[in-house]
Amino acid sequence: MGCANIAERYMIPAINALEEFKLVAVASRTQETAQKFAEKFNCEAIVGYQSLLEREDIDAIYLPLPTGLHNEWINKSLDAGKHILAEKSLGIDFHSTKAMVEKAQEKKLLLMENFQFQYHSQHNYVKKLLTSGEIGEMRSFRASFGFPPLAWNNFRYNAELGGGSLLDAGSYMLKVSQFFLGSDLEVKAADLVYDEELKVDLYGTAYLTNGKLSSQVAWGFDNFYQCNYEIWGSKGKLSCERAYSAPPGFSPKIIIEKQGLRTEILLDSDNHFENILKYFRHSILEQKYEHHFKEILTQARLIEQVKLKTSL
Ligand SMILES: NC(=O)c1ccc[n+]([C@@H]2O[C@H](COP(=O)([O-])OP(=O)(O)OC[C@H]3O[C@@H](n4cnc5c(N)ncnc54)[C@H](OP(=O)(O)O)[C@@H]3O)[C@@H](O)[C@H]2O)c1
Repeated sequence: MGCANIAERYMIPAINALEEFKLVAVASRTQETAQKFAEKFNCEAIVGYQSLLEREDIDAIYLPLPTGLHNEWINKSLDAGKHILAEKSLGIDFHSTKAMVEKAQEKKLLLMENFQFQYHSQHNYVKKLLTSGEIGEMRSFRASFGFPPLAWNNFRYNAELGGGSLLDAGSYMLKVSQFFLGSDLEVKAADLVYDEELKVDLYGTAYLTNGKLSSQVAWGFDNFYQCNYEIWGSKGKLSCERAYSAPPGFSPKIIIEKQGLRTEILLDSDNHFENILKYFRHSILEQKYEHHFKEILTQARLIEQVKLKTSL
């Protein structure tokens, strides 16, 4: 639903690469775009998102609309009886996100947020290193995700379309903190820096803790490119340099630093777009929805806390 950049570059090629999936149609607001995508990806072109929902031969929707439109179209998709893989951030606030989750529960449909990086094998490799005691006990977690300014007409600069860095790059920082420290986190301090004319936040930082371990994160889209995390332990440090946007074919590098020693481990490439799609399908077939709902709500709670804690 929506011929988005992320759909064209990564998600539709992944759908088409998996034999478990059949891409039935793409829907766009315009005939021209729908047609262009349909020809490129060998499927039907549909004009108007509602017309897509009226199709009975469609089980699931991949929804990469601007964040501010998710609420309307997730609700409509659930009402039409479709499972949904929705792009991050799933909702713009906790209240509306909770209502979407409750509707999915009521309709017995899967609603999942597309944080595909969690399904890239590089992070499980890091988790295994942590469990094996490679860097001793974990002492703290730090992460950054940010990039230089986007085109002026990008929806991320439009408050009405759910723009802003927190719901975009910032959301990864809250998610990766949960990935390594668990869901029992609270935001203790945060800053969001707004563009006064656009009324959207351009960059920010947050400090989260679970009472034992802390996470310091920063993000933005007026920044020198960073896409990393580092885990500092009692005996060493682990760093991942391309943590959230590893494209298919890219071989990730994990760096281990210890007293007088620096090791770089080059890992096999992976395709986290295909991996999350397979997991989405598996969750539907097994009817395992609840942990996805819980993850969505924890994420929305932390986003809300960042907004409440911002001191600027
Ligand atoms: N998981 C990831 O790695 C990842 C990466 C990038 C982005 N995302 C997420 O994916 C979503 C889309 O991001 P994107 O960068 O791909 O966006 P994009 O290229 O701007 O695409 C958004 C699409 O939404 C549709 N749309 C409907 N109303 C619109 C409006 N008023 N203004 C603009 N577009 C409108 C358009 O499709 P039609 O013209 O065909 O209707 C447009 O192509 C966002 O939620 C973003 O956070 C996720």
